[in-house]
Amino acid sequence: MSKFPARFAVSLPKLMRPSGSYCISHRSQHSLVPSSNQNDSDQFAEEWKTAMPYEQLPGPTRLSLFLDFMPGGKYSNRGIKEVIRIYHEKYGSIYKIPGMFGKQDIVFTFDPKDYQTLFRTEGIWPLRLGLDSVDFYRHKRRPDVFINGGLGTEQGKLWADMRSAVNPVMMQTKIVQLYIPTIDKVADDLIQRMKVIRDPVTLELPANFEDELNRWTLEAICVIALDTRLGLIGKLDKNSKEQKFINAVKAFFRLIDELDVRPSCWKVIRTPKFYEMMNASEVITEFAIEHIQVAKKNYESRKTSIKNMKDVGVLERLIEIDSRVATVMGIDMITAGVDTTSSGLVSTLYNLALNPDKQELARQEVLEKLPQKDSLLTAENMKHMPYLRACIKESFRLTPVVDSTFRGAGRDLVLQGYRIPEGTGVAMQLWHTQMQDHVYNQAAKFLPERWLRSNKKSKSVENEVEKCPLDEPIMPFTYLPFGFGPRMCIGKRFAELEIEALLSRIIRNFRIEWHHEPLKFRTSTINSPISPLQFKMIDCQL
Ligand code: HEM
Repeated sequence: MSKFPARFAVSLPKLMRPSGSYCISHRSQHSLVPSSNQNDSDQFAEEWKTAMPYEQLPGPTRLSLFLDFMPGGKYSNRGIKEVIRIYHEKYGSIYKIPGMFGKQDIVFTFDPKDYQTLFRTEGIWPLRLGLDSVDFYRHKRRPDVFINGGLGTEQGKLWADMRSAVNPVMMQTKIVQLYIPTIDKVADDLIQRMKVIRDPVTLELPANFEDELNRWTLEAICVIALDTRLGLIGKLDKNSKEQKFINAVKAFFRLIDELDVRPSCWKVIRTPKFYEMMNASEVITEFAIEHIQVAKKNYESRKTSIKNMKDVGVLERLIEIDSRVATVMGIDMITAGVDTTSSGLVSTLYNLALNPDKQELARQEVLEKLPQKDSLLTAENMKHMPYLRACIKESFRLTPVVDSTFRGAGRDLVLQGYRIPEGTGVAMQLWHTQMQDHVYNQAAKFLPERWLRSNKKSKSVENEVEKCPLDEPIMPFTYLPFGFGPRMCIGKRFAELEIEALLSRIIRNFRIEWHHEPLKFRTSTINSPISPLQFKMIDCQL
């Protein structure tokens, strides 16, 4: 009999509980009541009483939204981020987009004080809604596979049980470190491929380099999720299962934008895009099941010979919990860990290409740790690349992978003088906050130094540091590239490993340049590059 969920039907570990003064009723996490002191409670009651009603939040009407987004409407061809910005200029730092066709309203806020309020009151089962088409497929089409909707879309106790089961597997540094050699090998395979596919004269990568990057992340995440090297980096037969799988993952992301981000009536009328989403999800699910079954058989046959559990990887540990948990988590990893990681890499490559002085500092650091081009990455040398890490962090601020974080209000709240009833969806616009000079000194500049503590800043960056008082504390809740609290990204450590491994190999092998129009990103649930990724890669002679 399965050990899940009985064994793991526990609340989240103490560490993951957000601090705050609200106690949670056992009946519902939404019956949050201020617990610590009566004054807070009285103060909130007074604030609520005098606040403006929810209905008075500014924002477009349902009719104008419908007309503006329908084919030929003024926003039909505009990116979501652009529309959010236009509404911000028109309605101010808080506004409401009314729900349509069965979708709920979303409140957009641009004020970091609101982010703090939302996260501090989110409770132990934070609500993150919005991927309804994914949720539909999992609950309605394949309940045989999905014992829950998966971390990305599930809510409440079902989410918490799954999260507390998989957290110790996914978030432990020692387990992540087991993957360094394989992830390094995957990175090296892409380096060899880059040498083959770049133009021999201009040394530029081909316009469709994003496809190659998506194959790299998919290959890397499948090592972790499916315990398999699929061999996706390189040429694939277009009728192969692997190519069909890659196509399905790409369609899946495109369709989330069409069905769940933009206004869509699929909940009322089953549109062709809805069926396309069901088909793409089915291809991903079947592919994952097939590989997990093989991994399970392999694990069963070698289980008795395992001497040290320390060497056991993610998939096997998840199978040990329950193979259904392994399947759901595997599919979640494949769907959440591809575009995100490759966009993060692109963002960092681009910022380093535009800032050759910073790139050189990162190269000096990498050269010290990888003296030969074929020197291997290890847990030890990866620990000592603070400047490289700071470059990634700064890129995630300047050109973020995820623009906003979403929460259902954990209780009734007052945001910017408006009543926000419990459960209301609120999208926090971190991209905007991260670009404010009063929040980040010289916000438009790429300054990795702002993320280094003084004692870690090398001599070579000291002058830069003097020019800019970067040791100022960062305002809380203004930099959350992987989210916050119990619901923060569970793949953070793997994403960082993949990006650090490939980036250090690229910097070690090439000087990166960019000679085109500024790189453009398309904003949906995540930001993906839309410009051709023609980075120039000049061989590094050292
Ligand atoms: C640069 C790469 C990545 C970025 C920037 C990123 C960012 C995020 C963000 C912002 C969230 C929402 C957190 C919140 O609401 O507080 C999230 C959730 C999530 N991410 Fe990532 N992610 C990345 C890579 C990955 C990878 C590689 C995986 C898979 C191993 C992954 C799996 C997930 C899952 C399953 C969730 C839902 C967690 C939950 O609700 O419990 N992500 N990610």
